[in-house]
Amino acid sequence: METKTLGSSPLSVTPTYILPQDKRPNLSETSTLASVPVIDLLEPSALVVEQISRACEEYGFFQIINHGVPQELCDRMMATITDFFELPPDEKAPFFTTDHSKQVKLFNYFVKDGSQNKVSMWSQCFSHPWHPLDDILHLLPQNPPQYREVVAEYAKEIGVLMKRLLSLISQGLGLEKDSLEKKLSEKPILPAQANYYPPCPDPELTLGLYVHTDLLSALTVVRQSEGVTGLQVIKDGKWVAVESIPNAFVVNLGDQMQVLSNGRYKSVHHRAVTNKTRKRVSVATFYGPSKDTILGPIENLIDDQHPPLYRKYHYSEFLEEFHKQEGTRRMVKETFELKN
Ligand code: OGA
Ligand code: NI
Repeated sequence: METKTLGSSPLSVTPTYILPQDKRPNLSETSTLASVPVIDLLEPSALVVEQISRACEEYGFFQIINHGVPQELCDRMMATITDFFELPPDEKAPFFTTDHSKQVKLFNYFVKDGSQNKVSMWSQCFSHPWHPLDDILHLLPQNPPQYREVVAEYAKEIGVLMKRLLSLISQGLGLEKDSLEKKLSEKPILPAQANYYPPCPDPELTLGLYVHTDLLSALTVVRQSEGVTGLQVIKDGKWVAVESIPNAFVVNLGDQMQVLSNGRYKSVHHRAVTNKTRKRVSVATFYGPSKDTILGPIENLIDDQHPPLYRKYHYSEFLEEFHKQEGTRRMVKETFELKN
């Protein structure tokens, strides 16, 4: 199948990848101005809390530097996942699936055009939980040979970073440091998704990832290739490129955080565009609730001036609605909105 060869270039833009006119990226309209805030975690913590809080309100996205995760480990993670994507197609074939209930899966995203035909994204995605790893370790690639070890090491550091970010975000909301972590349960769902975007001869006709918000997560941390951009976020109605900053992580809020913060913090639409000459790789790690977590605006954030914008729901209800809306531009949290 054609899409299975996307790991190896060069490629031509065949019809499977060509977006209908109204879904194309219009790259010339990308704003060259404001990129998302860059926050130095070595600044005094009160300042960091305030900067993060403002970024969460205004952008839903920010980058962090001096975050304490060793650069050398991140470089190894990126090199390892790149090697995996660049294996010969037949070595990757066993991981390919369209069954999203699989724990470990390699797949291509698609979007439906006006006649319900699938248009493939110019990317390949590889997804599996990043924690706990013990139960799935045997399902992970054995080639490249260091894959399992590097993922385990990376996941450990990401776990520490995620908890630190949840604490800083809790404080930004005026809550106890451990509020969000507690709220998201002792058994959060923690998927990772690596994205591989080969060079694309015509970036105007394709997208690497279609416009989306991170619906299932509260918090997302992304490591991206250096020296090439691709991730774009909506700011004031315009697409803004997220710069590539050496040894930084991109952090963004997911829909579950928008709900928990009662709309104060935003889960913002974003997409990945393709690049004519450079490949790009990203590793996104997500932090989401457990199936039985009850989500809804946190009580302390509700008062007469801030009535609840969402009703309470079990995360399993959200997941059910999410799966129902496959192939569409999903509107899931909207089904839990309260009309005040
Ligand atoms: C994602 C995502 C962005 C990127 O995986 O949800 O938005 O830069 N990735 O690849
Ligand atoms: Ni995303």
